[in-house]
Amino acid sequence: MLEEYQQLLEPIGNFLHCETPQSWIDVAKQPEQLPALLIDHANCEMKAAMSAHSLVRRYCLSKEKRHLLPNLDFYRDVAELPEKAEILGKHTISDDQMPVYQALEKNKLLVRMVLLIQEELHHFEQVLGIMEKRGIEYDVLTASRYAKGMLKHVRHHEPAAIVDRLIIGAYIEARSCERFAKLAPYLDDELTRFYISLLRSEARHYADYLQLAEEYAQASIHERVTYFGEIEAQLILEHDPEFRFHSGQPKVEV
Ligand SMILES: [Fe+2]
Ligand SMILES: [Fe+2]
Repeated sequence: MLEEYQQLLEPIGNFLHCETPQSWIDVAKQPEQLPALLIDHANCEMKAAMSAHSLVRRYCLSKEKRHLLPNLDFYRDVAELPEKAEILGKHTISDDQMPVYQALEKNKLLVRMVLLIQEELHHFEQVLGIMEKRGIEYDVLTASRYAKGMLKHVRHHEPAAIVDRLIIGAYIEARSCERFAKLAPYLDDELTRFYISLLRSEARHYADYLQLAEEYAQASIHERVTYFGEIEAQLILEHDPEFRFHSGQPKVEV
């Protein structure tokens, strides 16, 4: 792979506690898995947008203002964003949360998440476009245990909860980036080009989440990063009954 991508992937490789096992790649590259791969990939892009949206609603908007930002359509039109940003306003957290958050630059979360949501929606549409060209219908597909397997360990008090969610966001983005890179050489030209084109933004998303986690924690997040790194690696290395974009090793038939 080109040198510039190696540079991009190096910090991601150091962050993740394990590489994607070859056994997952061997299944993922099979032509008969392509519908599952693409449908789940589309779902992952949509879920990435939705979880960023839920961070915006929860941490950048007061309860009274949440109805102003009801769904993902809000983010679709880039040109309207300056006016839309005004809706979000500057007083973005409730008074009782102020002591925890006042030292932080609140709009940073907002700005990063809005950009991230726009990119994820664009990726979602790109995957749908590729599926349409190949006659693959967007169908219901159960989610893998991957994200849930990390989210169930989120602490319940603030700022610990947002720090954990941001660290998990970093792991999901980092793993996606690593898998796109690993899988790209095994796919056809169009998908190889597409997956390589996604590396840069997913690497940026990983870095953004991690930086935001550090800022919200206002203390070292090393221990939490290690904690979730171990859980994430376990989810990737354990055997999984069904193949998904973030599934573990394919279950070996006995
Ligand atoms: Fe994406
Ligand atoms: Fe992403």
